[in-house]
Amino acid sequence: MRIAQIGVGNWGAGWIHQIQRNTDWTLATVIDSNESRARQVAADVGLTAADAFPSLKAMIEAQIEVDAVLVAVPPVAHTEVTVEALEAGYHCLIEKPLADTLDDARTIVAAADKAQRSAMVSQNYRFKRAARTVRRLISEGVVGDVESVNIVFKKDPPFDGFRLEMDEPLLMDMSIHHLDLLRAVVPAFEPARVRATSWNPTWSRFDGNACATVEIESRSGARAIYTGSWASRSSHTTWDGSWDIEGTAGALTWADNEVIARPASVFDTVFLPGALEQHGSLRVDLDPSTQEERQGVLAEFAAAIHEGRRPETDAHDNLWSLALVEAAVRSASHGGSLVDVEQLVHSG
Ligand SMILES: NC(=O)c1ccc[n+]([C@@H]2O[C@H](COP(=O)([O-])OP(=O)(O)OC[C@H]3O[C@@H](n4cnc5c(N)ncnc54)[C@H](O)[C@@H]3O)[C@@H](O)[C@H]2O)c1
Repeated sequence: MRIAQIGVGNWGAGWIHQIQRNTDWTLATVIDSNESRARQVAADVGLTAADAFPSLKAMIEAQIEVDAVLVAVPPVAHTEVTVEALEAGYHCLIEKPLADTLDDARTIVAAADKAQRSAMVSQNYRFKRAARTVRRLISEGVVGDVESVNIVFKKDPPFDGFRLEMDEPLLMDMSIHHLDLLRAVVPAFEPARVRATSWNPTWSRFDGNACATVEIESRSGARAIYTGSWASRSSHTTWDGSWDIEGTAGALTWADNEVIARPASVFDTVFLPGALEQHGSLRVDLDPSTQEERQGVLAEFAAAIHEGRRPETDAHDNLWSLALVEAAVRSASHGGSLVDVEQLVHSG
């Protein structure tokens, strides 16, 4: 299938190479409101200037035919660009966060329903081997019923551009990955209530808050505590963060792409398929994958279209992940008050 990429900035530039080495998709055109950048990028990657456009409208007027678009513009422009593409009849793969607000995300979902086209969010962190491995182990009951999840994320990325001016850059642009991962790896964790605080260290490069703590209570009473920083002067975690997951049958630690299982019963440390006993725990081999990260996203997007089903990270489902972010932002701006996530999702 043929895809047009809208937005060829810092992250978008990498997307082009991902599409070009993917077997499901052919990059047909690049579109960027900065037309000279679109032309430059097109030339750099072996397309011609005639394959570069300043807008989707210009591409349609040039009668270029595509099946889908990839939306890789800053979050504030996701809704306008995506709704235009859906209304023009294209399937849409949208960078995270789906939209700036839950209301805007609902507008995208409604447009996808009306157009009967796929709207998938690129939650690429779900498509990494360690996340897949942790999800499998939990689904196989290695930790039993999950009651406690602790996630720590620490980086200090030298960003410029739109993130520096956001009110809550960490929560909106980064934590969406971790809160969506929580829903992916622990599917039984159904978020019910959220309380959060956010703050900005004096040395932060961001205008808005680069640090946050989010406490999430599930419908069953399980708890997840997330602590994140985009201004960390301490040792850094991987982009996935470091995870401790505890349940009725044991615990899992996932950090630095290493997954360790700690069964509650010493007899369960005798054997776990794909794991080696070390220091009283089980070090688990990561599940193999030939299509990791964005290759996994592109494969799932194509498969869902071919099979006429919703993709794993469909916009409908992603409303719940975005609701966790919006609940955290609301709570943080109201002194850490408790926010009901279900009410937020259904209030639209
Ligand atoms: N999934 C990930 O791991 C990951 C990592 C980084 C960024 N992102 C996401 O990717 C998206 C883009 O981020 P970026 O860092 O590349 O941003 P960027 O600011 O570097 O680039 C955005 C590009 O979009 C263009 N643009 C803006 N509005 C447009 C419009 N209405 N129509 C056409 N072009 C428009 C700009 O000219 C620019 O070239 C964001 O949603 C961001 O959160 C995701």
